[in-house]
Amino acid sequence: MISPSLLQLAHDQPAAIRAELLAGLTAPTAVIAPKYLYDALGSRLFAAITELPEYYPTRTEAAIFAEHQDSMAAALGPVQTLVDLGAGNCEKAARLFAALRVQRYVAVDISVDYLRDSLQHLQQQYREIEMLGIGVDFSSSLHLPAEAGAGPRTLFYPGSSIGNFTPAAALTFLRQAHAECRGGSLLIGVDLVKETDILEAAYDDPLGVTAAFNRNLLLNLNRLAGTNFDLADWRHVAFFNAPESRIEMHLEALDATTVRWAGGERRFAAAERIHTENSYKWRREDFAALLAAAGFSALRHWCDARGWFAVFAAHA
Ligand SMILES: C[S@@+](CC[C@H](N)C(=O)[O-])C[C@H]1O[C@@H](n2cnc3c(N)ncnc32)[C@H](O)[C@@H]1O
Repeated sequence: MISPSLLQLAHDQPAAIRAELLAGLTAPTAVIAPKYLYDALGSRLFAAITELPEYYPTRTEAAIFAEHQDSMAAALGPVQTLVDLGAGNCEKAARLFAALRVQRYVAVDISVDYLRDSLQHLQQQYREIEMLGIGVDFSSSLHLPAEAGAGPRTLFYPGSSIGNFTPAAALTFLRQAHAECRGGSLLIGVDLVKETDILEAAYDDPLGVTAAFNRNLLLNLNRLAGTNFDLADWRHVAFFNAPESRIEMHLEALDATTVRWAGGERRFAAAERIHTENSYKWRREDFAALLAAAGFSALRHWCDARGWFAVFAAHA
């Protein structure tokens, strides 16, 4: 069995992570970054979300890739190294290996155990492609280690994960991505503004899988920060904030409750919330302008017939 290499750069500072989480919990409006949704179970729950009829982004983006992969390959030019940011189960990238003629695949994700398993599985199917996993948190800055590849890189950022950043933070991230391309290119998926009921159903499905994904964050907090959250006290809330053009996910206290940890506590009133995720929805022209402002050129994009999702290719 061939084993891909794995560089573990994430979770190397448990004290810093605990301090960040407790600062978020004790802020006037409690907030926890969405990256903490992705422990090993969270990654599996996200994969289940992508199977839900209401969660249109994954299958819409996959259909755009399937239909336009040859045009994408022509727009991107030769791909020596494909760097998959937030690779998850690596399935989207794998479906593009042949069309893009990928020689090296670098999968980057904060959820290291899940990444290891996904990559191990993938390497057996694609023995000819050199693979590397990098376990790292790129939310505050995207700086890839030298092992990610010396030559030009094609950065792949699907799933509209860019929507987790505010527009200002997305610009900063894309500028860093531009530098990390080293003269290569970018292939990025973006969810577009659409009717509120379609957006809200995608983040609050009747089966409760998205609710489980959001509430699992509390179990991860108990592990990482030593808190004593009780799942029974919290419910999932998701809605479209139209002025900000974003879906917001929150965890809402069902009744007044106090959460405790060694050395501290936070009292929550009934209906008080912890903000756990933003998912910004873009207009095509605004996202094209954002890419240009980050330094990208030769922009092309492909969209589904309903205009729900767009994939952009650009040169660094
Ligand atoms: C919405 S999922 C997308 C997964 C996959 N790329 C797809 O499109 O289906 C986001 C992925 O990014 C990873 N991720 C989230 N925040 C991250 C961070 N700050 N640093 C590295 N990876 C992160 C998660 O573990 C997860 O695999």
